[in-house]
Amino acid sequence: QGRAAMKICMIGTGYVGLVVGACLAEMGHEVICVDNNPAKISALLNGQLPIYEPGLERLVERNVLESRLSFSLDISESVAQSQFIFIAVGTPPAEDGSADLTYVMKAVEQIGASIRDYAIVITKSTVPIGSSERIRGIIEKQLKNRGLTDLEFDIVSNPEFLREGAAVNDFLNPNRIVVGSSNPRALAYMEKLYLPLTSKGFPIVHMDIASAELAKYASNAMLATRISFMNEMAGICEAVGADIERVRQGMELDHRIGSYFLSAGVGYGGSCFPKDVRAIIQSATERNIPTHILEAVDKVNHKQKKKLFEMVVGHFGEDLKGLRLAVWGLSFKPETDDIREAPSIETIEQLRKRGVQIQVHDPVALQNAYQALGEENITYFTGLYQALMDADALLIFTEWKQYRSADLGRIKSLLKQPVLFDGRNLFNPYMMKEEGFVYQSIGRMK
Ligand code: NAD
Ligand code: UGA
Repeated sequence: QGRAAMKICMIGTGYVGLVVGACLAEMGHEVICVDNNPAKISALLNGQLPIYEPGLERLVERNVLESRLSFSLDISESVAQSQFIFIAVGTPPAEDGSADLTYVMKAVEQIGASIRDYAIVITKSTVPIGSSERIRGIIEKQLKNRGLTDLEFDIVSNPEFLREGAAVNDFLNPNRIVVGSSNPRALAYMEKLYLPLTSKGFPIVHMDIASAELAKYASNAMLATRISFMNEMAGICEAVGADIERVRQGMELDHRIGSYFLSAGVGYGGSCFPKDVRAIIQSATERNIPTHILEAVDKVNHKQKKKLFEMVVGHFGEDLKGLRLAVWGLSFKPETDDIREAPSIETIEQLRKRGVQIQVHDPVALQNAYQALGEENITYFTGLYQALMDADALLIFTEWKQYRSADLGRIKSLLKQPVLFDGRNLFNPYMMKEEGFVYQSIGRMK
């Protein structure tokens, strides 16, 4: 701070756009976050956050108050006023697994129609290799149509590595900032933009655009690979009577392996790993490059997401009609309300098709789940113990803190039968047995 503020327009005010916008404002820049969803913008203008993300509310409030952060539905005007234009709209999976670029291309057209002076157009969304160059072509064409062939602009790929639930901290304390551009002018501006972070020692890595685009997919694919690898090991543990938690401990102290992303569970969910692994497979397949590892990662994950369903069938039999099950945890991970590709949602759909009554609890994702699942065979509870009443078993999908420290005696007394299927290995199997539970978890003894 105390440095010259840059004028930034953030197109797309979702999980990434809002966090990055608020953090760039916190770094001293002037940021307008725009979105084409009027409900989102009007909530933000009324001081309400459309998403749950720890630490974000305070950050938004402070930066709005200090006039560095504002919100608008007017994309043209916001683009026209800004020198840095970030694209942070969604890139959901298309039917064939590739990234659907409809939202990105719409935003690009709006940019091409509105820029007035030199601007840097930055892809923050995760986009397939070649997209940023495609974006350059579209904007060039539009400027030509507007008779503005002399108006200069640069394209930069600046992928985002934040995690939901830790997004603010991740953005403000990045392991690295990847900036893809072969243009020295654009690089100089990007360095200036990120100076508040690089001056604290956070590294910036320059590369060409294609490498930056691929670095994003490769990072997510590597992390997803570690998870699927451990889930596959968990399956082996179950077969040979080993304990995946001990196996992990025996691996992670090796510095070459490290301890991150080695937790077996119900498979990775969220809006990123599943779609990004599929998208990179699709990109490679289009170029006739085989993707044996990536396909296996995806396949293992699909299988793993069915784990708790299989435990239920294994215990209660194929006929589940009339069963009442409690579910703790709906979001794809703790500290977020995001339920995109969450293993809980897929399992609940399968269970209710079989006539199971489901009682769900989640600290923050109930509303999103209600929108996705509706009311058929599902009751929503704001109290975690309420959700257990008269249930035949409890299924845990998300490692929220309050579940880890839950009162086992109370769980047992509220459930009709003391049966617990734990998709996140929250409890010790020996203790659970002592407590009188029928307890099944991932990659450990029954
Ligand atoms: P999101 O769905 O939460 O947000 C996207 C926003 O863009 C929505 O609010 C939508 O209304 C808006 N939008 C769409 N088209 C628009 C347009 N033409 N003009 C203005 N607004 C428009 O998505 P997200 O989770 O924030 O992800 C955005 C991108 O960032 C994706 O490519 C994703 O892969 C990538 N990414 C996400 C994360 C994450 O943790 N969620 C992390 C890193 C990268
Ligand atoms: C992930 C990456 O971690 C971010 O770096 C990246 O920016 C982001 O995707 C993205 O591209 O959008 P996120 O999806 O928010 O972030 O959450 P993670 O913490 O990575 O968890 C993803 C999934 O993997 C969750 O379902 C989680 O439960 C699962 N997971 C994670 C495991 O099953 N085991 C682990 O050891 C770690």
